[in-house]
Amino acid sequence: MTEQDLDSCAEVIRLGGIVAFPTETVYGLGANALNADAVAKIFELKGRPRFDPLIVHIADPAQLSSLVMHVPPPARDLIERFWPGPLSLVFKKADCVPDIVTAGLASVAIRCPAHPLARRLIERAGSPIAAPSANLFCTVSPTTAQHVMDQFGDRLPHVIDGGPCAVGIESSVVSFLDEQPVLLRPGGVTAEEIEEVVGPLKLASAGGSRPASPGQLARHYSPATPLELTFDPPRPHSKVGLLTLGPAPKPNEFVAIEVLSERECLREAAYNLFAAIRRLDALGLDYIIARPFPEEGLGHAVMDRLRRAAAK
Ligand code: TXA
Ligand code: MG
Repeated sequence: MTEQDLDSCAEVIRLGGIVAFPTETVYGLGANALNADAVAKIFELKGRPRFDPLIVHIADPAQLSSLVMHVPPPARDLIERFWPGPLSLVFKKADCVPDIVTAGLASVAIRCPAHPLARRLIERAGSPIAAPSANLFCTVSPTTAQHVMDQFGDRLPHVIDGGPCAVGIESSVVSFLDEQPVLLRPGGVTAEEIEEVVGPLKLASAGGSRPASPGQLARHYSPATPLELTFDPPRPHSKVGLLTLGPAPKPNEFVAIEVLSERECLREAAYNLFAAIRRLDALGLDYIIARPFPEEGLGHAVMDRLRRAAAK
């Protein structure tokens, strides 16, 4: 990516177009957040229902105050500690944020990504960038530029390649609409890390067709191949792939195995997760078995994604 390429992508955003760009979590599908027509193109390209609001990305925490009504002190502490980084915060929105961005909600999610290419794109575009993950609705999030190009092809000519995403799993989403902060989506900053700064988090009720965070549908991240989250052995006479944190005890039972981290490191596993699901999904398996993860640290976010991937 040359400076000129980056400039021309910023120009595409300024003119109301769409650009896929890397962040440290996953690739995003970005448009000028203050241009409703441009944002409409994201929903159309992604096949995303209009009730599912987008995250607004800023290059500098100082841009926050123009987009939201009020930032309570605990949220300021989180910003101080984790921005730029994989944390999105929900506040009451300012009037300048178009309704289409927030799916008609009175609140808006804001994130200051850490990836240098994302930040430079936002700076040069001269406006905040609204961006969902750069995948078709309900499918696995992309962690490389190739994943994005595989799904959209010619329909999305502007893809900034920043290599694989360092975190590999989406941002944590925390709402500050109530007195007590609510964890709407576990993600790249762990609940434990957030609670160290703001105290106990309320957990959003999971699943359902209209959950507290509208994008947190029970079924999401779905590979085309059925995925089962289980400690069971594979059923006989079937072609089964395995997705597992560490080395598998009986590897011969499986046609293919994705070990997400030989040393069982949750951070490394999160980094590898989505690409591994895509690889298994490309093998024409009868189904995929994912072994449950320990529910601590980034294991919460991984299990959240696996449960949704397994939901029927
Ligand atoms: O890491 C990430 O967050 C990536 C990168 C591209 O930044 N983006 C991402 O966007 O994952 P998306 O659209 O796939 O997920 C956004 C999530 C959804 O669960 C949505 O419901 C929630 O954020 N969200 C956005 N605005 C909200 C709001 N005002 N209130 C509650 N939830 C909101
Ligand atoms: Mg997404």
